[in-house]
Amino acid sequence: MSSLANIHFYDLHPPLANLKEEVLQGLSTSPKAISPKFFYDEYGSQLFDQITELEEYYPTRTEITILEEYADEIVAFLGKDALLIELGSGSSQKIRLLLDALKPAAYMPIDISKAHLLKSAQTLFNDYPHLDIHATCADYSDHFHLPYNPEKVPKAAFFPGSSIGNFEPSQAYAFLKRVADFLGKNSTLLIGVDMKKDPQRLNEAYNDAKGVTAAFNLNLLQRINQELDANFEMDYFKHYAFYNPQLGRIEMHLMSNIPHEVHIDGQAFYFKENETIHTESSYKYTIDEFQALAQTAGFQAVKVWTDKARLFSVHCLRVI
Ligand SMILES: C[S@@+](CC[C@H](N)C(=O)[O-])C[C@H]1O[C@@H](n2cnc3c(N)ncnc32)[C@H](O)[C@@H]1O
Repeated sequence: MSSLANIHFYDLHPPLANLKEEVLQGLSTSPKAISPKFFYDEYGSQLFDQITELEEYYPTRTEITILEEYADEIVAFLGKDALLIELGSGSSQKIRLLLDALKPAAYMPIDISKAHLLKSAQTLFNDYPHLDIHATCADYSDHFHLPYNPEKVPKAAFFPGSSIGNFEPSQAYAFLKRVADFLGKNSTLLIGVDMKKDPQRLNEAYNDAKGVTAAFNLNLLQRINQELDANFEMDYFKHYAFYNPQLGRIEMHLMSNIPHEVHIDGQAFYFKENETIHTESSYKYTIDEFQALAQTAGFQAVKVWTDKARLFSVHCLRVI
């Protein structure tokens, strides 16, 4: 643990070996796949912030509209003076809408992207100098412990951005169960979930005209070249994203333009023409579908808010 004034930093991040292990394993399977958690090196986090500003990318501004409109009700459900844990906190922008009213005992942003987490924690601290910040670099898709867990302080959690949709439904269930366990009975989880809608709207959101989402997707290969001993050629791959209505999810892939071979850490991987690496799924849920999932994982659905066009939902769940 290291500290700077009221900022404490805990590094629970898995070592480089995990990137190597998971990438080598993911490219050895058929179809090839790499977890979206590896998008977020420092540049990937910056590109994600650019995505949130895009005209086509409605989720961020819609979730913000809901948080702004219902802030008073949300704060009443979350409760004051809690240890407020934010999962996948990114730039810690959305939590600002609730911080003044929530007055948490402490704020624990948890994110896999270390440099971005530290920068965001520092920026937040500059604006909220009395906030006790416990920034934690960790992979929430695996078991991890809360590095700061004061006794008798109630806990509340915030998981915005519809990141729950990046899990396969069985993984989402396991993740929610873990969150329920570390929060404890009667604690509240506030979670943003993108909704099923017109496929055209969804396809546009993940295929923006400026090509930022494409750059975000392709940056995964740059990262692998930089951090592992790999020789991906950017020009041999293109961004490919579409809504899969049978599975109710956006699928993001990197598609090989030509047949070729890539070497990573001395291992060769062959790509056929049009073969893809599946890099992200983003499941969309109706309100009923998501509440049913949350209930099986040990939560009671307390309240849900949506925007007028019913593009996005924010759920308040309580651990039973
Ligand atoms: C889609 S962005 C959302 C960012 C922000 N919460 C928002 O709503 O705009 C996902 C965030 O979760 C982080 N993240 C993704 N997978 C993660 C994992 N397995 N463990 C911890 N953080 C993760 C990323 O670094 C990124 O900041």
